[in-house]
Amino acid sequence: MTTQIAPSILAADYAKLADEAAAVAEVADWLHVDVMDGHFVPNLTIGLPVVTALLKHTGVPLDCHLMISDPDHWAPEYAEAGVQNVTVHVEAVAAPVRTLRMIRSAGARAGLAFNPATEVEPYADLLGEVDMLLVMTVEPGFGGQHFLDLVLPKVARARQLISRHGGEIWLQVDGGVSDETIERCAEAGADVFVAGTAVFGAEDPVAAIRRLRAQADAAAAAAG
Ligand code: DX5
Ligand code: ZN
Repeated sequence: MTTQIAPSILAADYAKLADEAAAVAEVADWLHVDVMDGHFVPNLTIGLPVVTALLKHTGVPLDCHLMISDPDHWAPEYAEAGVQNVTVHVEAVAAPVRTLRMIRSAGARAGLAFNPATEVEPYADLLGEVDMLLVMTVEPGFGGQHFLDLVLPKVARARQLISRHGGEIWLQVDGGVSDETIERCAEAGADVFVAGTAVFGAEDPVAAIRRLRAQADAAAAAAG
């Protein structure tokens, strides 16, 4: 497992997205882009036009987290636009197998996301269709929320399912990930860490990413 850090632009300045992306480009593995439609979650952010524009202005791969009511329609369009990872929520997707296959056949990695109260076990048979599981560690919709420790046992169960399945499926956590919580996430088996406030709210976002990566690496090594 290799630690990857995905700073979330939800905590960046949307009026200068290209600059914010450039500010973390040398150390970020991904740029996490939260797409919210005001239906699946109460908040509204950006959609395909802004994501398409951002793709032209950054070399950092985009990790689009679709918190929208109709991912079956929209997810393939993000993949076709050139987004490198497209994640859909199990609570919203109507035909997960078809949609995940469409994402992959458009050349993107396919992610499947779970809200805090959604179990992962019912989706075990879909592991062959995904490149990443996203276990939400807050209720989706807003940045800057408190990390939910109650989700950690599920992170560990998701890691077990992945190990049993074999292959290389990444396990992402998103929400409240910071220097106080990232070690617990890594110990539970997460390897891709989304961090909004902890990166773009920091005085030095590059240093913040380096610290988070070092903490996650150390905790994963200690956990064996
Ligand atoms: C919340 C979003 C997160 C958010 C995380 O619904 O999915 O990606 O940006 O922000 P922090 O790291 O501030 O909790
Ligand atoms: Zn997110």
